[in-house]
Parts: sequence; C-alpha cells; structure tokens
Amino acid sequence: MAASHLVSQAFLPLRNRHVSISSRSRTVLPIKIRATLASEPATVTASKHCFSKKEDGYLYCEGVRVEDAMQGAERTPFYLYSKDQITRNYEAYRAALEGLKSIVGYAIKANNNYKVLEHLQSLGSGAVLVSGNELRLAVRARFDPTRCIFNGNGKVLEDLVLAAQYGTFVNIDSEFDLENIVMAARIAGKQVKVLLRINPDVDPQVHPYVATGTKTSKFGIRNEKLQWFLDAIKTYPNDIKLVGAHCHLGSTITKVDIFRDAAVLMVKYIDEIRAQGFGVEYLNIGGGLGIDYHHAGAILPTPMDLINTVRELVQSRDLTLIIEPGRSLIANTCCLVNKVTGVKTNGTKNFIVVDGSMAELIRPSLYDAYQHIELVSPPPSDAGVVTYDVVGPVCESADFLGKDRDLPTPTKGSGLVVHDAGAYCMSMASTYNLKMRPPEYWVDNGSVVKIRHGETFEDFMKFFEGL
Ligand code: LLP
Repeated sequence: MAASHLVSQAFLPLRNRHVSISSRSRTVLPIKIRATLASEPATVTASKHCFSKKEDGYLYCEGVRVEDAMQGAERTPFYLYSKDQITRNYEAYRAALEGLKSIVGYAIKANNNYKVLEHLQSLGSGAVLVSGNELRLAVRARFDPTRCIFNGNGKVLEDLVLAAQYGTFVNIDSEFDLENIVMAARIAGKQVKVLLRINPDVDPQVHPYVATGTKTSKFGIRNEKLQWFLDAIKTYPNDIKLVGAHCHLGSTITKVDIFRDAAVLMVKYIDEIRAQGFGVEYLNIGGGLGIDYHHAGAILPTPMDLINTVRELVQSRDLTLIIEPGRSLIANTCCLVNKVTGVKTNGTKNFIVVDGSMAELIRPSLYDAYQHIELVSPPPSDAGVVTYDVVGPVCESADFLGKDRDLPTPTKGSGLVVHDAGAYCMSMASTYNLKMRPPEYWVDNGSVVKIRHGETFEDFMKFFEGL
C-alpha cells in the first residue's frame, strides 16, 4: 500500500458521548448500556469472557464500550480490567479444588495492583512472593501471611527475616539459602516452616526464558542432593520445620500431563522424606498454566483439568495441595488500550503506530510473545485489511506490540487493544524513554473505576528532590 494513502487517513473525531471516570464516584453510564447490564445474569460463570466484539462492531468490556472508557480515561495508553473476570477466574480454581485441602497462592509478580490484590484476598486467595516488598504489599492488602509462600533463588537475609517474623512459608532453594533461612529464624526468634524446592528436571516445553524446572535452570535444589538437604535440615530442629516439597516447572504450560509427570516425581520425594520421620503435609506444584493468547479457538486446559491430573496423587498421600497461579488468574482479565497515532509504510512494511509501547508492555519484545490485537471500534467502511506491525514510539526497533497482523486500516485517534495484558505487563512496565507508567481502570458492576493513577513527570522528579 502506498505511503501517501496510509498517511492521508482522516483524523477520527472523538465522539462526544460523555463517560466520566473517577476513582471515587461511579460512572453514570449511557441509558442503553445500563439496560444491557441490567439484563445480564447476576451470577458469574466460568465460560463467559469479559472482552467481546458485539454486532455493532465495538469492543466491550462487560457491557461497557472500550471506546467510552477511552473517552473518560485520564490518558492513553491505559490498562482496563474486568473485576468480574478476576472473580470468575478465581472461582474456576476454587471449584477445581473442591474436596481437596488446598492453598491458592496467587503469584503477585504477575500483577501487583493493590486493588487487584485486595480483591483476590477477599475471594480467599493466599499469595506467592518473591521479595520482601511483595510480602509487605500482601500484608497491606490483608493477605494472611501464614498462607503465603516466599520463593526465589536469591532471597536476601533482610527479606527472610521479614518472612520469618510474619510466619510465612519459605522455600529452600540452595545450600546458601538454607543457611540464610536458619539465620533469619534466629534473628526473628521464630521457627520457620520450610518447603524444599526440588528441581524435578521436567521439560515444560515453553520459551527457554520461562522454563524453570529443567537441569540447566538456576532454581531449586538438584534432586540428587535431596539427602544432603534432609540431613542438614535435621541439624536445625529449633530454627526450621520441613513441612513440604515444592516445584515450579515454568510458565505458559499448555499440557497438563507435564504437571502430572512432575507431581508423580514429587510424591515419590515426599514418600522418601516422610520415611525419614519428617511430618511433611504440603505438596506445592507451583504455577505455570498457560492461556489462549492466540484467540484462534484452541481448547486449552482449564484449572479443573490441571487439578484433576494431580487430585488422586494428592489424596493418596493425604497432602494439602499448594498451587501458585499467576497468569491463569489474571492475564485474560485485562487489555492495554492504546490510541492510534498514525499509520505509515516504509515501502516493504506497514506500521500502525500507537501511543503504547515496549515500556508499558514488554512481552512481545522480550519473549517474542504473541498477544492478540484488535481495534475497539468499526473501521471506516472503505478501510482495507492490511498486514501491519503494531509499534510504539520508543526509539528502538525492539519496540513492537505485534508483528504481521492483518488489521483494517485504523483512523488516527482510534483505539487499539492488546489483549491478555493482565499478567506480566504492567508489573514489568518501565519508564524507558520517560514514558511514565500508565493508569489502570477496571469495570466494576457496569462502571469504569480507576484502580491506579498514571505516573507523572512530577513523580519522576521527586527522586531528585533535595539532592
Ligand atoms: N511460582 C513460581 C515459583 C514462579 O516462578 C512463577 C512465575 C509462578 C509461580 C507463576 O507462574 P504463572 O502461573 O504466572 O505462569 N514474565 C514472564 C513470566 C515469568 C514467570 C516467572 N515465574 C512472561 O511474561 O511470560
């Protein structure tokens, strides 16, 4: 397509429909949308998904037009969530775990929005932490710290002391980690409940950056060293109590057999550990369940499928199952909403340039990850479908949100979303190119409510005050 044609797209005038968005007051929705909401069932069902294109060609989040949310938002880009979808995702795990003793430890690293955490806590979730600050945040959001698990291959003493003081479970990752946990227990004057993170050497068949349970991974203890760790643990009976075994295979796993293979190995280790007189009660199989990023109709395993593959094993040993989902709880509850700055071509490639970028959403650049992209409103009737790279304004070629996407040519100023942006997007956002972190909103009961302020230039300058 000729560049002249692409750049001559008319600026799309923003519609005047007023939808105010506030962190304090509920939005007054247009009558039409209210009516739609009122007729929706009050109960949330597992199969319903929050974002859908309706016959009118607009993208909706739980009955609210994403374009309307754009009009009322503080600025673009912004993250837009569905609170009900978070509930539905949590309920899917709760239903799957029915009849089992269990702890759901939500992996805070996936998304650390305080309001999201408060909501998950209110639903009954525990949490999985990888830093002292994540523990502090979990406590602020009223998670019960004794139903939280502290993970990591490089936990520092100061954070371990905090975990010991709060009575949080701690996973032993290495020889030096064991030493530090013992020291933390002594400093806090508390016995720490520990799990052994065993590297089961099971290939999760995912991108190498998110595989964590194979021989070459930096996480966990080598399974051949199990006896060494058991002997060492026996020498600190006042400081640590071994209560379980943990593994985490990796992330974006789409075959539940992989979890079953690991669980079979893990219960064998638990049998060995129990045979030596340890009262081990917990099997922690980590997180890692993948989601349908491609939106191409593939049927992916559900939380029920995952739990069903390990249910009998867990029951046969009368264990309490700990699971650590991040992505499968939060990814599909959110879109990054961007505004189209313009459309251009370099002769061989066509680009949709939006205001969002690798600073707000780095997964495509970092892992070559696919996240589905679509326009939020119907394109002009004469808009042709063209193959585009969707890129941001950041000054490097790694800055893309999607490559080779067939999309109708959008008008300037129109909205474009990147789907499944609830996990590892905002939590991995940076201020590269001084693009300040975006605001966040969720649709709650038909209203668009702010759940995080956008960061500002003034926020940045505060780091230099008084220096
Ligand atoms: N437990 C442990 C010990 C973990 O390391 C992780 C994630 C989880 C649980 C949660 O896994 P999930 O259910 O979310 O897959 N930034 C990457 C993902 C890194 C995952 C790190 N560990 C991404 O954007 O795909």
